[in-house]
Amino acid sequence: PETGRLSIIVLGASGDLAKKKTFPALFHLHRQGFIESHDVHIFGYARSKMSDDELRDRLRRYLTPGKGCEETHDEDVSKFLPLIKYVSGPYDSEEGFQLLDKEISAYELSKDSKEGSSRRLFYFALPPSVYPSVCKMLKNFCMNKSDLGGWTRIVVEKPFGRDLKSAEELSTHIGELFNESQIYRIDHYLGKELVQNLLVLRFANRMFVPLWNHTNISNVQIVFKEDFGTEGRGGYFDQYGIIRDILQNHLLQVLCLVAMERPVSLKPEHIRDEKVKVLQSVLPINEDEVVIGQYEGYKDDPTVPKDSNTPTFATVVLRIHNERWEGVPFILKAGKTMNSKKAEIRVQFKDVPGDIFNSKGKGRNEFVIRLQPSEAIYMKLTVKEPGLEMKTALSELDLSYRQRYQEVIIPEAYERLILDTIRGDQQHFVRRDELKAAWEIFTPLLHRIDNNEVQSLPYKPGSRGPEQADKLAEKVGYVQTHGY
Ligand code: BG6
Repeated sequence: PETGRLSIIVLGASGDLAKKKTFPALFHLHRQGFIESHDVHIFGYARSKMSDDELRDRLRRYLTPGKGCEETHDEDVSKFLPLIKYVSGPYDSEEGFQLLDKEISAYELSKDSKEGSSRRLFYFALPPSVYPSVCKMLKNFCMNKSDLGGWTRIVVEKPFGRDLKSAEELSTHIGELFNESQIYRIDHYLGKELVQNLLVLRFANRMFVPLWNHTNISNVQIVFKEDFGTEGRGGYFDQYGIIRDILQNHLLQVLCLVAMERPVSLKPEHIRDEKVKVLQSVLPINEDEVVIGQYEGYKDDPTVPKDSNTPTFATVVLRIHNERWEGVPFILKAGKTMNSKKAEIRVQFKDVPGDIFNSKGKGRNEFVIRLQPSEAIYMKLTVKEPGLEMKTALSELDLSYRQRYQEVIIPEAYERLILDTIRGDQQHFVRRDELKAAWEIFTPLLHRIDNNEVQSLPYKPGSRGPEQADKLAEKVGYVQTHGY
């Protein structure tokens, strides 16, 4: 591992993302010894004026104890907070970034920092509108200057643009200033334990390898549901909607890992090459295979326009045009304010040919990967119902992580991904061509929704979404085996 002065700079340090995700992830990495006091300094940068201590105090309540670490929590916090220094400045002024550079350089040259290269990691917890100017400022004033080597990396969060054109403009701008190897486009779904397990499940288990294709699989659902609404971020959400917020990034990334071919190796570029191919093989979306919805009450938020057509729910069927997946619908479904909170992948197999048990319609084999809550992998199998009769029933082979891995603490997605950025591993980050291909899939539909050419259907808060969505899933081949 590299040693030397590591500066982590959180841009937008007083915002929600920084408080709720970035700083807590850094805290847990520090608590577990993945970043160490003598090696690292953390800088918060934002427009508001405040002292180091004010920022530390604001962050304190977001730092919750790690599992089993309740007793040492106060001590853990008091070792972490002093590492944070605050610099205030605008996002488009030279002075602000010159000052930031001065502070970072002072730390790099200080006696208590270890010898070695200088590493600068800039985390953008910022509104995307300021990305272009911030990138320019960083390039002009804040790059690593150490002659002992080292690096400068930037971590950017979605939304990367609103559609293909704006995303490409942003990519071109950033691409002129930084190399692809310096850019980490974060999609936190790629940091989730069971998303990271997909490659292993698929390619390390002989039993799945021959089954994973259109001959055996009827349909795949990738579902995200939340049981709360846009609470407080209605105005922001309304500019994007659920397709840009969840489907175009999180669910599509999951789809890539479910559908991709075996990569040549586990090298990040080999994996990302295969993901791009899947995205490029997705056919244009057929509008008959789309249902969008908006929950009743969404427009009560004063920051949401009264005539908003922005979807808070969407079911979109994607079709992958290749040898493996011809004819298999991938049903992507996401919604806010629904009947439950969960994210899962549901791979439904076809009926058994030549069935002698008359079990048609009584359930199919399903392989379910529950990403959250309560991570689990389970398989639905038809078995003989115990007893004297020869009856069949659907049962489950269940690998619930909570039971099986009781002692293991599953890391937060952000912890894992930030550690990857420090280590220079881009496997779980979105490459520029992946981003482009993802926007190509959704842009025509998004433009039609923005122009009110596709209407959001109303649905009741706490429901399964518009009933047309369930009908669509059935129409394309999903057979309900039980409520999900
Ligand atoms: C974010 C979306 O990317 O993901 C939010 O912007 C959503 O709207 C969140 O709530 C869900 O993340 P998770 O990890 O809770 O499933």
